[in-house]
Amino acid sequence: MSRAPAIEAVDVSRTYQLDGVSVPALRGVSLTVGAGDYVALIGPSGSGKSTLMHLLGGLDRPTAGRLVIGGREVGTLSPPELARLRNETIGFVFQAFHLLPRTSAVDNVALPLVYRGVGARQRRERAAAMLGRVGLGHRLHHRPNQLSGGEQQRVAIARALVTDPTVLLADEPTGNLDSTTGAAVLELLERLNTESGVALVMVTHDAEVAARARRRIAMRDGVVVADSAALPGEASVLGEARPADGGGGR
Ligand SMILES: Nc1ncnc2c1ncn2[C@@H]1O[C@H](COP(=O)(O)OP(=O)(O)OP(=O)(O)O)[C@@H](O)[C@H]1O
Ligand SMILES: [Mg+2]
Repeated sequence: MSRAPAIEAVDVSRTYQLDGVSVPALRGVSLTVGAGDYVALIGPSGSGKSTLMHLLGGLDRPTAGRLVIGGREVGTLSPPELARLRNETIGFVFQAFHLLPRTSAVDNVALPLVYRGVGARQRRERAAAMLGRVGLGHRLHHRPNQLSGGEQQRVAIARALVTDPTVLLADEPTGNLDSTTGAAVLELLERLNTESGVALVMVTHDAEVAARARRRIAMRDGVVVADSAALPGEASVLGEARPADGGGGR
């Protein structure tokens, strides 16, 4: 597997303008997401986790700093070029699944392939196969309101992965699920990370969930205050971390 970073952020800032007031949500964040990484992003509410995820996924642009996604410098790209890079490189999963309500599971999953110019028949085939991989081969024609929360999140995961991205960004993907369902979704994400090598960056408030990741990044007040990958060979600056690449059975 290539060791070139999937995403690289160098001293990235993001300041929102709200009613004439500047709100500095990110204040100089530097990090790289390596191919196949499994990162938990933690930190208190308002510390900038979602803002950072939006930048890493090319949904938003930094106010300052350098951001490189899939080898492309985001600052040099036009909006359509950035949208295309995002479609080719990134999968997103959100806490509130964001599925199209009147659309079947298979057509929800096929949607990103429309923007790729994939033909209708092949779109459906690939979407159905991806739904099979997340255990929903028997629910292709259900609409979101005919699916359980865990099933809806699995549809969202299938939609994020149908384009075969190099990075999956998941912002509290288990936040709306009960603990059993959440554990199943987490296991699915981990299996996809292991089997497909898709890098997984996941925001979580749950310390147990964070402890399962191979790497933890902690944020506070718009900066990274700890990154367990920052000290090569050392366990971590976050006391609870596992040894690097120890794997813990993963
Ligand atoms: N569109 C916006 N306009 C103005 N301020 C914003 C905007 N979005 C976020 N902020 C502010 O930026 C800061 C970081 O927000 P962000 O959503 O990244 O936090 P978070 O770490 O994801 O929090 P949570 O755990 O509650 O989801 C917060 O203070 C928030 O109020
Ligand atoms: Mg958030």
